[in-house]
Amino acid sequence: MDLLRAAAGSAGGGPGSRCRDVACYLSREARTITIADVKTKVGPLILLGAPGAGKGTQAKLIMQRYGVPQISTGDILRDNVGRGTELGKKAKAFMDKGELVPDDLVCDMVADRLRQADCEQGFILDGFPRTVGQAEWLARLLKSEFFEKRCGVPPVVVNFRVGYNQLLRRLTGRRTCPTCGRIYNVYSQPPRVADTCDVDGSKLVTRKDDSEEVIAERLKAYERQTLPLIDYYRRQGGLREIDADGPPEQVTAEAFRAIEDGHRL
Ligand code: AP5
Repeated sequence: MDLLRAAAGSAGGGPGSRCRDVACYLSREARTITIADVKTKVGPLILLGAPGAGKGTQAKLIMQRYGVPQISTGDILRDNVGRGTELGKKAKAFMDKGELVPDDLVCDMVADRLRQADCEQGFILDGFPRTVGQAEWLARLLKSEFFEKRCGVPPVVVNFRVGYNQLLRRLTGRRTCPTCGRIYNVYSQPPRVADTCDVDGSKLVTRKDDSEEVIAERLKAYERQTLPLIDYYRRQGGLREIDADGPPEQVTAEAFRAIEDGHRL
């Protein structure tokens, strides 16, 4: 499948590549940070990957280790849909069909969230950006509001690569706790008691968009609108590619390495 071939392609960029884009925020010297810096200033962490690649699973573990918030645009949108807000009403029609919500709606929502105080030292973007337009918007926002006024640490951009069959297995087997948000999988990470959250005993739910029909549309939207983003970040150098087909602990170890080794966008 094209999306997987392209996502699994070799990492472009690298330390010597030249950044010609608006997202090239800082000098090369400023882009090299130490592990000690990471402990105090995590900066923006951008998680890319197809639906089901494990962004949410890894974001929660990264949040625990570094103490910066997970900002999942999918979770925020689902919360708005659940509460019946104006944003939720507009987003629902797109989400039910597996399509992306229009950039302007999502970008306004992300701007509101990033301006909150808990994002001062860093944050994890899970599911954003998802189009080149969103990435360009984010680059401008980070430059004008984040780097110059708050924490001057450049982003880490990680792409989790997963094969097609594994994606389908992960999406169809996913169950989520509606209370604490913990993510399970009936095949790979089942709860101790069937359909019941290990943490708070809530009955686990299946996401509405994890039906086979909607999954197919989400994967098409990924291929069409989000894959170009991989090249967008590759061209800037510093995109971190992680083989995320393996067990979660292995993926987590690689993600931590990518965050701490100092090679940033
Ligand atoms: P969103 O909620 O972001 O969904 P998604 O991108 O499709 O990603 P998922 O949440 O499905 O997967 P994930 O990568 O987080 O995987 P997870 O960790 O859960 O978006 C939903 C919708 O909202 C979109 O379709 C769109 O309409 C809208 N939207 C959101 N953001 C938008 C944006 N920026 N612009 C426009 N529209 C937007 O893992 C999946 C399963 O695999 C779990 O069961 C887990 O237990 C299991 N698993 C994870 N890792 C492993 C592993 N290593 N081995 C085995 N199993 C694993």
